[in-house]
Amino acid sequence: MKRGVFFNKNCKLKSLKMNELKNSINQTIEDLSEKHRMHRKIRFLLDVRGLLVTNKIKGAYAEFGIFRGEMMYAASKILGNNIEHYYGFDTFEGLPKPKGNDEKKFVFEKLGFMKSTYDEVKALLGDVSSTLIKGDFRKEETKKEIISVLKPISILSVDCNWPSSVEAALNISAKYLQDGSIVYFDDYFTGTSDGDYMLPILEKLKVEHGIKCVYFQTYPPFARAFIVFRN
Ligand SMILES: C[S@@+](CC[C@H](N)C(=O)[O-])C[C@H]1O[C@@H](n2cnc3c(N)ncnc32)[C@H](O)[C@@H]1O
Repeated sequence: MKRGVFFNKNCKLKSLKMNELKNSINQTIEDLSEKHRMHRKIRFLLDVRGLLVTNKIKGAYAEFGIFRGEMMYAASKILGNNIEHYYGFDTFEGLPKPKGNDEKKFVFEKLGFMKSTYDEVKALLGDVSSTLIKGDFRKEETKKEIISVLKPISILSVDCNWPSSVEAALNISAKYLQDGSIVYFDDYFTGTSDGDYMLPILEKLKVEHGIKCVYFQTYPPFARAFIVFRN
């Protein structure tokens, strides 16, 4: 009978029958696999909880692109009193029309993708202290409405797919970011087949708003988080 080898706990090579070897690989794949669509977002929220507390970073949680409100709900459960208020911004009609090169970068996205209503999100959030604003935040009227309510941000989640929406989200948030604020980009590594779209956006943030994003952590397959420092 064919036999395979692998290392046991004491790093000694252990001989295994072929089917045992296959089973051990299958089991490891199962053990390491994501068990939930929100896996990377929940991992991120758990990772930054200690940062907020130890560095005494006070402020709001703001999310651009909230869909059903799942990440905000998870944030309220994990971060609780360490967050002063929760802000969510979305069309509540799904993805708006692409602009410029958006469709070249995100070839699989469609108008109206990920639609959820304001009432559905409010129902999920229950008694979380939250303000939700409806509208395309690339548009001037929505931007004004957001600016009229937004407060200093401790955690910013940018999860709105189109690069034009990501850029608008950062332009709006820039003046509310403080030293130590944490920014999570859910689509940092989406659309990589057409070059690095995030790098120029982060460079613009530095040049136009004096905000430096220092690498914190990657949340595979797409997301990356940074800590903000103002010049
Ligand atoms: C990937 S979903 C967000 C998922 C959500 N953060 C979660 O964790 O479940 C993207 C959302 O971004 C919203 N969106 C994209 N561009 C937008 C824009 N310019 N203005 C408002 N909402 C936008 C879409 O409506 C959609 O709900």
